[in-house]
Amino acid sequence: PKITFIENNGTEHVVDAETGVSVMEAAVKNMVPGIDADCGGACACATCHVYVDEAWAEKTGKAESMEESMLDFAYEPKANSRLSCQITVSDALDGLVVRLPEFQG
Ligand code: FES
Repeated sequence: PKITFIENNGTEHVVDAETGVSVMEAAVKNMVPGIDADCGGACACATCHVYVDEAWAEKTGKAESMEESMLDFAYEPKANSRLSCQITVSDALDGLVVRLPEFQG
């Protein structure tokens, strides 16, 4: 599935992700800048923060409570904020668009 990451400065990175990995892993593997993922995907750092494009909010679903509390530590969390290590790539997410915050927390 293809995932588009849009940096805060507007630079787009389209990556071909493998099904089953997290959106964070897909970014790191494809050298998308701006996803630090300090904790390696354990939902414990909030430095893999992304904003899910409105059109995809329903398909990616909502943050669970642990993710929700970690998002408080993210830089400028918004209603469409997610931790990208908690979104699993699937065929249903082909075409997903996420935006990167200006900084990671
Ligand atoms: Fe640390 Fe996602 S990588 S919370």
